[in-house]
Parts: sequence; C-alpha cells; structure tokens
Amino acid sequence: MNVSPAKPQLCNDPEEAARWLRSGGLVAFPTETVYGLGVDATNAAAVERLFRVKGRPSNNPLIVHIADIAQLEQVGQNVPRVAFELLERFSPGPITVVVPKRPEIVPSVTAGLDTVGVRIPAEESARAMLRAAQLPIAAPSANRSGRPSSTTYESVLEDFGGDIDAILIGGAAHIGLESTVVDCTREVPRVLRPGGISLDQLQSFDSRITAVGRDVSPGENSPGRLHPHYRPRARVQLVIDASEAEASPQAAYLGMMPHPTPEAFGWHCVFGSTEEYARSFYEALREVDRRRLSIVYCQRVPPTGLGGALADRMERAAE
Ligand code: TXA
Ligand code: MG
Repeated sequence: MNVSPAKPQLCNDPEEAARWLRSGGLVAFPTETVYGLGVDATNAAAVERLFRVKGRPSNNPLIVHIADIAQLEQVGQNVPRVAFELLERFSPGPITVVVPKRPEIVPSVTAGLDTVGVRIPAEESARAMLRAAQLPIAAPSANRSGRPSSTTYESVLEDFGGDIDAILIGGAAHIGLESTVVDCTREVPRVLRPGGISLDQLQSFDSRITAVGRDVSPGENSPGRLHPHYRPRARVQLVIDASEAEASPQAAYLGMMPHPTPEAFGWHCVFGSTEEYARSFYEALREVDRRRLSIVYCQRVPPTGLGGALADRMERAAE
C-alpha cells in the first residue's frame, strides 16, 4: 500500500524547512511578529499555489523575507539609502521597507507593483532557515485570508492542516502584531501599516515621518489595507471600558481593566499591559471562535507606542 507521508511536516530543524522551500514547498515559520507562510519568491508556480491556499486576493502584495541586509539588493534595485538606514536601525525586527523591485522577484509576489516590501525577522530560527534556503522568501501572515493572524503553530495547523507542506515549529510570537510597513520610495518615508515599530520610534529616526491615514485613495495606500482583515466569526465590538459591554454567556470580554462581573461572560481575558494585550490579541479572537461565542467586546487602547498598531487591528477586526 502506498501511504503518502502525513502533512504538514512538523520540523524542528531550520535546514529541513529550508529544503522544503528550495523545492518549491509552502512552509510556515515563526517570527517575532506573527507566523509567516513562506515560499520561494523567485518560483512563480509556488507563489501561485500560496495565493490559492491562503485565499489571498491577487492584488495584495507579499512581503519578501531575507536573512541579512547584504541580501537587500538581491530583492530591490536602486534601493534608497533611507531603506538601508531604517533596516540598520530597526532590523532584525518588526519593520518592512518598501523599495523598487528587482525583476527576479516574480510579478505575482508584488501584485504587479514595481515596488517590493522587504523584511528581516528577528526570530533566530527563521533567520537560520532563510540563510540555509539562500533564497528571498515571500511570506504573508500564516492565516486564511481575512482571519486573525496566527501567533502559534497550532493556529497555523488549525487554518491550513495538510494544505501546506511543512511548519518550522517555534514558540508563541512575542510581539503578536505584524511589522510596520514603511514606504521608502519617497523623499520622506511614510508608514503604510502601523506595526511592531511605533511611529514614535520612527520619528526619533526622522521627525518628518508620518502615517498614511485610512481614508487616502486606494493607489496611495498599502493594497492590503483595502481588504477585510483580522476577523473572527464572532462579532467584534470596541468599548471604552467595561460599562459599555453587555455581559452574557454568549459574549467574551478582552481588556486591560477587569470587568466588574467577569463571571457573567462566556469567557474573558484581562491583560496587564498594552504589550501583553497585543501579544495575545489574535489568539484571543481565535479562542472566542473555538468557544463558539457570538460577540467579543474589546476594550480600546490609547494609540501610543505599540497601542498604535493594536488600535488599528482592533478597528479593522470590528469593521
Ligand atoms: O510581520 C509581518 O509583516 C508578517 C510576518 C510574517 O513577516 N507578514 C505580514 O504579511 O503581515 P501580510 O501579507 O499579512 O501583510 C503584508 C502587508 C499588506 O498590507 C501588503 O499590502 C503590504 O504589506 N505590502 C507588501 N508589499 C507592498 C508594497 N510593495 N507596497 C505597499 N504595501 C505592500
Ligand atoms: Mg496578514
């Protein structure tokens, strides 16, 4: 009898994960932000399969992951100096620089754009995998399109099961929200998506940096910002504090301050800091669905520091 090997392969060894990537496979891997679902960015067929499996709209470009700054010019060309400077300052870490793209990166990766987003993750096992693969790796967050991102490998399995080839096993992502996407193609860089590096941090690098508002015209914005995102099946309602949340066994409550009657909710989570809230946010939304609750109340956070990215994801989940 010919039994096909169980998929996905759960790997502990970054080199084994790299071999899957080199042979055109779809490989999920841990990063400090969220898990990524990686594929060889120079292999058009593999990239096409990635879009299909993720259910990703073809007009939403992928971020290309590299191990070191030295690789930046294998992905981008005429790379603006500010992109190098930003990576030197904030990488390896949760920042993505958007720069003019090289032709070796297949067009579907960048949804036909002549720019490419590039990032160097801080997670050591991911960098070891990228180094061993010796390829630029295109990777969106490892969730079915529209769903909350995955911050654990178990959530990757929950979304994809045997539709992907391998998972490089790691712990829970310690930031828990995606990288900050910075457009470096203009004279002054602009933030297209808030993320793990805060606007304050970027402004300490260059005080002229601003964030693109949510209401700019489509061509002005990061394409991914136009699609529904981060949504659990449960309805998401944002509240200023617990008094706005209507307790019921069908409802969940997430927040920094305890609800006065937490036992009246089907489930609740209280976080000690914005960082902890951010780290746990996506997994908490997924848990609300596992418990089949119908609504989740999320307490708003001040949009400073990492709260900028958390507030953004909450608003988008609630849209
Ligand atoms: O932290 C992260 O960035 C994670 C991990 C896996 O690295 N990745 C991630 O990828 O969040 P994804 O595909 O879920 O989101 C990529 C975002 C989208 O909003 C996309 O539109 C934007 O980056 N993006 C990618 N390339 C772009 C480009 N050339 N121009 C403008 N925006 C771009
Ligand atoms: Mg995503």
